[in-house]
Amino acid sequence: MSKVGLIYGSDGGMTEDVCKRLVNILGEDNVEMIEVCDSSADQISSFDNLILASSTWGSGDLQSDWEDFEDTLDEIDFSGKTVALLGLGDQDGYGDTFAEAISLLHDKVKAANIIGQTSTEGYDYEESNAVVDDMFLGLVIDEDNQDDLTDDRLAAWADQIKGDLGL
Ligand SMILES: Cc1cc2nc3c(=O)[nH]c(=O)nc-3n(C[C@H](O)[C@H](O)[C@H](O)COP(=O)(O)O)c2cc1C
Repeated sequence: MSKVGLIYGSDGGMTEDVCKRLVNILGEDNVEMIEVCDSSADQISSFDNLILASSTWGSGDLQSDWEDFEDTLDEIDFSGKTVALLGLGDQDGYGDTFAEAISLLHDKVKAANIIGQTSTEGYDYEESNAVVDDMFLGLVIDEDNQDDLTDDRLAAWADQIKGDLGL
């Protein structure tokens, strides 16, 4: 079984913490967790199965290390890969651009088999282009307002995606 690459960017540490909790659920031996600023096109290309995680900053923008990595993402051929997206956001403070970073990541990995879409039920926001056909493009976690729901959301998502990730 090959490892899943979990590539993340985190300005304040919340996404990093959530990713560590996800690794605990999926199993430390099954996942290689790498901060995007320490990664490369070659390294990401070496994984068949990936989870990409970013918080949203500015007004619906990618986390800063992901922004720096955008051109590198364009060098990677995602066809034949399976990718799940994980986004952190603040639905109360930024309800009109909620978790939009995963939409920007989605644009970059469109060639992949994208898995792990989730229901928008239980969230309260005004607008988000991370929602397509009434579903989030990945898992959305809100540590600012709903941290009590995070563990259950992670556990359910891990169950949802692990088969497709080869785990
Ligand atoms: C200046 C600033 C801008 C933000 N912009 C957004 C936004 O547009 N959409 C959103 O959902 N969350 C936004 N957030 C909330 C962060 O995404 C959220 O707090 C996240 O948990 C931070 O994760 P990190 O510590 O891993 O970077 C913003 C937060 C700050 C401080």
